[in-house]
Amino acid sequence: MFKVITSEMIVPNIHLLVLEAPAIAREVKPGQFVILRPDEEGERIPISVADWDAEEGTVTAVIMNVGSTTDKLASLEAGMSIPTVVGPLGNPTKIERFGTVLCLGGCYGIGSVFPIARALKEKGNKVITVIEARSSYLFYWEERLREVSDKVFYITRDGTKGYRGHIERLQEIVKSLEEPVDRMIINGCTFLLKRGSDTSRPLEISTVVSLNPIMIDGTGMCGVCRVTVGSTTRFACVHGPDFDGHQVDWDELLQRRKTYMAEEVIPLRTSRCEEHIDRS
Ligand SMILES: Cc1cc2nc3c(=O)[nH]c(=O)nc-3n(C[C@H](O)[C@H](O)[C@H](O)COP(=O)(O)OP(=O)(O)OC[C@H]3O[C@@H](n4cnc5c(N)ncnc54)[C@H](O)[C@@H]3O)c2cc1C
Ligand code: FES
Repeated sequence: MFKVITSEMIVPNIHLLVLEAPAIAREVKPGQFVILRPDEEGERIPISVADWDAEEGTVTAVIMNVGSTTDKLASLEAGMSIPTVVGPLGNPTKIERFGTVLCLGGCYGIGSVFPIARALKEKGNKVITVIEARSSYLFYWEERLREVSDKVFYITRDGTKGYRGHIERLQEIVKSLEEPVDRMIINGCTFLLKRGSDTSRPLEISTVVSLNPIMIDGTGMCGVCRVTVGSTTRFACVHGPDFDGHQVDWDELLQRRKTYMAEEVIPLRTSRCEEHIDRS
C-alpha cells in the first residue's frame, strides 16, 4: 500500500496528490508517468509525475478531475493509502542543451511541465514558459515556474491575466521574443497539444507533445494506447509519451479518446447520484 502524504485541491477541479513511493522517487525523470489505482476494485490510470523528493521518498501528481477514477483520487485524504502506484513508466523527456526552449502547459500540464522546465534550465537552456487557462484563477505553481524560467507568459480565454484568447496567441508571444525558439514542449489536454502543434508548425519550431491516450497496462502489452505518428503505429506507453507534434495523427487520436465516452461518463454520474442519495 502507498500512503497519501498530501491531498488538496489547489484550484477548482485540479488536485495535488503527494504519495509515499520511495523506489519511484529514486528513479523517476522528467516526462515520465506512473499508473495509479485508487482502490482494489478501481481502474488503473496513467498520471504524470509533476515532482518528487528522493530523500523523503515521495512523488507528486497534479490531477484534473474529469471522471470516476480521477474523482476517487481527488477524494483521498492525507493518511489514507492506495493499492497501486506503478512506475516510473514511459521514456523521459529528452533534456539537452537546445538553446531557447518554450514549455507550454495547460490544465494538469502546468504541473507536469514543471520538472521538464527545471531540468532544461539546469542544462543551460533559456526557458520560456507559457501557461494557459480559461481564467487566471485556474493558474497554480506560478512562483515555482518563475523560479525555473527566464520568462513566464500567460494566456487566458477571458483576458484576466496576460494575453486574451486561446493558444493561437502563442504566435505573438514567439514573435515578441528577442531570440528564435529552438524547441517547444507541450503538456496538457489533447486539444492543447494539437492546437499548440498547429500553431508552431508554420513557425517551423520543432515541437514535442506528451500524449495522453487511454492506457491500461502502461507496459506495451494491451495495445490500447496505439497512436499513429508519421504513418507509423506507436504505443504511447513504451514508445512515448513524447512524440513529434507535427507528425501525430490528431484526428485518429481524438476519435479514439471518444470511444468509451458513454461507458466512462455514466458510472461517474451514477456514483455522484448515489452519493447524493446517500447524503440526503
Ligand atoms: C502518459 C499520460 C499522462 C497523464 N498525466 C496526467 C496528469 O498528470 N494529470 C491528469 O489529470 N491526467 C493525466 N492524464 C490523463 C488521465 O490519465 C485521464 O484523465 C484519466 O485516465 C481519466 O480517468 P477517469 O476515470 O477519471 O475519467 P474517464 O471516466 O476515463 O473520462 C471521463 C470523461 O473525461 C474525458 N477525459 C478523460 N481524460 C481527459 C483529459 N485528460 N482531458 C479532458 N477530458 C478527458 C473522457 O473522454 C470522458 O468523456 C495522463 C494520461 C497519460 C496517457
Ligand atoms: S497501455 Fe497497453 S500497450 Fe500501452
